[in-house]
Amino acid sequence: MRILVSGSSGLIGSRLVGRLQAAGHEIVRLVRHPTQARDEVTWDPASGRFDHQRAAGCDAVVHLAGENIAGGRWTDERKRRIHRSRADGTRLMVDGLAKLDASPPVFVAASAVGYYGARGDEVLTEDSPPGDDWLSEVCTDWERASEAVESWGGRRVLMRTGLVLDQEGGALGKMLPFFRLGVGGVLGSGEQWMSWISLDDQLALYERALTDERMRGAYNATAPEPVTNRTFTKALGEVLHRPTILPVPAFGLRLLYGEMADALLLTGQRALPKRLSELGHSFRHTSIGEGLHAALGDGSID
Ligand SMILES: NC(=O)c1ccc[n+]([C@@H]2O[C@H](COP(=O)([O-])OP(=O)(O)OC[C@H]3O[C@@H](n4cnc5c(N)ncnc54)[C@H](OP(=O)(O)O)[C@@H]3O)[C@@H](O)[C@H]2O)c1
Repeated sequence: MRILVSGSSGLIGSRLVGRLQAAGHEIVRLVRHPTQARDEVTWDPASGRFDHQRAAGCDAVVHLAGENIAGGRWTDERKRRIHRSRADGTRLMVDGLAKLDASPPVFVAASAVGYYGARGDEVLTEDSPPGDDWLSEVCTDWERASEAVESWGGRRVLMRTGLVLDQEGGALGKMLPFFRLGVGGVLGSGEQWMSWISLDDQLALYERALTDERMRGAYNATAPEPVTNRTFTKALGEVLHRPTILPVPAFGLRLLYGEMADALLLTGQRALPKRLSELGHSFRHTSIGEGLHAALGDGSID
């Protein structure tokens, strides 16, 4: 397949591109810098520029681009960038693709379990309604922005992704230095749920969605065994052979991260991959111990 990929420099995108190329697919990267290589096409979602003709001839799109949600305190300006880069960026891309003589038949896009908002112990499947906080609104607008794919008969898949485990990036990458020093601990009450997925499983899901004609609509891209922050903390300590006895108080996190602390660290989602289970999808890493071993590269379980 010839696949247009946005956000190809990110944590997921950079690994996904390598994996898809190794599987024999041709990748066209949609990048925000001036093109430096033959496989790149430039767009500028911030100023609404996308030369759609340069994306002609693609069989599929993988849309990952968006301002990093955990990249810093949620100032008004950052919140605007997070929202606009997803809602407006997606609409810009989809409107451009719609104008092509042959619009891509497959569109696979990132979303996040933040769609469901803070829901305590409630078990969340794809049938659950969205939450009512700001991040839920971002995810809802982000998902809606690609609805037009269906008007050209495209197959649209949305990955409501949980915490992707990788030692070099994302939330785990940020926590690791503290845990390695033995000063990691539960965050706040430790009762908040964490829906996670190993990077390997996340990449496999994107790959599957590109070719599995049965996949359509939103999927919880999360391992089948979400855990509380307390369980996650204990498992991480065990994998690293470090103590995790120093809890991080909620007020300290709020002081450091403001509103973001409540939305991303002190509350969470207990999401289950119901629609993937119905497809018979098998995850490589199902327990948090397996996921962490795989992420930390110190001998995954196989
Ligand atoms: N990693 C996770 O745990 C996780 C969890 C849930 C959902 N997700 C979602 O999955 C997608 C990929 O995740 P990731 O971890 O790979 O993200 P990432 O490392 O933050 O990469 C996102 C990419 O988007 C592009 N980008 C950055 N700022 C942008 C902006 N203002 N406007 C448009 N594009 C921008 C960049 O690519 P270029 O510089 O090449 O344009 C960047 O490499 C994201 O949309 C993320 O929200 C990730």
